Amino acid sequence: MRHAPIILFGVGGVGSALIRQIVQNRAHHATEFELELPIAAVCDRDGAVVALGEAIEDVTLLDIIDFKKQGGRLADYAQGGPQQDLAAIVDVAGRPNAIVVDCTATETTAPALIAALERGYRVVLANKKPLTIEQEVYDRLTRAGATVNGRPPRQLTATRWETTCGAGLPVIATLHRLIASGDAITRIAGALSGTLGYVMTGLQQGRPFSEVVREAHRLGYTEPDPRDDLGGVDVARKALILARGLGWRLGLEDVAVTGLYPMEMASLSVTEFLEALPSLDAHFRRLVEEAAAQGGVLRYVATVAEGRCTVGPQTVDASSPLGQLRGADNLVEFHTRWYQPTPLVIQGRGAGVDATAAGVLSDIVELALLRA
Ligand SMILES: NC(=O)c1ccc[n+]([C@@H]2O[C@H](COP(=O)([O-])OP(=O)(O)OC[C@H]3O[C@@H](n4cnc5c(N)ncnc54)[C@H](OP(=O)(O)O)[C@@H]3O)[C@@H](O)[C@H]2O)c1
Repeated sequence: MRHAPIILFGVGGVGSALIRQIVQNRAHHATEFELELPIAAVCDRDGAVVALGEAIEDVTLLDIIDFKKQGGRLADYAQGGPQQDLAAIVDVAGRPNAIVVDCTATETTAPALIAALERGYRVVLANKKPLTIEQEVYDRLTRAGATVNGRPPRQLTATRWETTCGAGLPVIATLHRLIASGDAITRIAGALSGTLGYVMTGLQQGRPFSEVVREAHRLGYTEPDPRDDLGGVDVARKALILARGLGWRLGLEDVAVTGLYPMEMASLSVTEFLEALPSLDAHFRRLVEEAAAQGGVLRYVATVAEGRCTVGPQTVDASSPLGQLRGADNLVEFHTRWYQPTPLVIQGRGAGVDATAAGVLSDIVELALLRA
């Protein structure tokens, strides 16, 4: 039986779903893969529970999920304690074949992830931020363990980050397969935000922008501050991860982002922002009409092509995969030398804690089964 001890950063929605799925799949992983995934440590922002022996017991793990769901801090948990340095947790809990899993939403995990790779452990990220800060951090995180001059084949490296773009959808894996085959990728175009997809579908149905955004906010489809979605920065991070995956050396500042609200509305409170939304209705009605006049539809698109990354509302052909998209699904078109005129398309649910955790678990299993 192979053992790949897990050190988990972040026990929020995705981290908790991951723990649950690891526990539920123990028999499956043992029978199908002769694989055991003991959990050696779990950490939140200022606390951790570290296994005293081989692993934290499953009954304790499930209790930790309940404890976190009720707002508890691992620093206060019976078997837990405070932590201020994730790299120190990696040192204490690390053991041969360990996999460190980042389910936080902060760039501050980067030093601990790099330290883990330097100790010969492997890393899985659901967290986009460490991959979208300095290029050097991206390189160190994604090239560690690469066997050919520190370069690809990237599938042989010690890191996986499939869920950072399109959650559980195999977007990064597809990118890597296309690169591995020597195909020439000419353009990647994607709808990478379920929330913005929902807004675009509403606009296409002729509804006012203000009405659709307020509804999405009321239903909890947006972040508590809807500007976190409407600004487009999260989509820009995904576009940057795709561009860097192509080997382009770019930073977040190089991604041209057009958000769905003007700068003047950035300083308003959330309530004031929601009240001011009707002032944008005419602008979006005009954009939708202009798109229709060109035989197209308006979509919020991330485009990676010709050395440039752009993110914003864009008119796309109504008969294209992106043009046909409705609702909150994510969709990515890969236009390549071999995939034309019809692109290779990945489509499906691009968010949700269970789909994301399942993608993280696939990454873990894949790394665990790689020969050292
Ligand atoms: N939810 C989705 O559908 C989805 C899809 C794809 C990718 N993702 C990505 O997955 C990640 C996790 O998402 P989520 O929805 O689970 O977020 P979440 O519910 O906000 O959970 C984040 C967790 O990270 C912990 N954390 C924050 N700062 C930390 C630090 N400095 N050190 C250690 N732990 C820290 C938090 O600790 P506390 O509990 O102490 O606050 C919390 O447990 C994010 O990067 C997100 O972008 C999410």
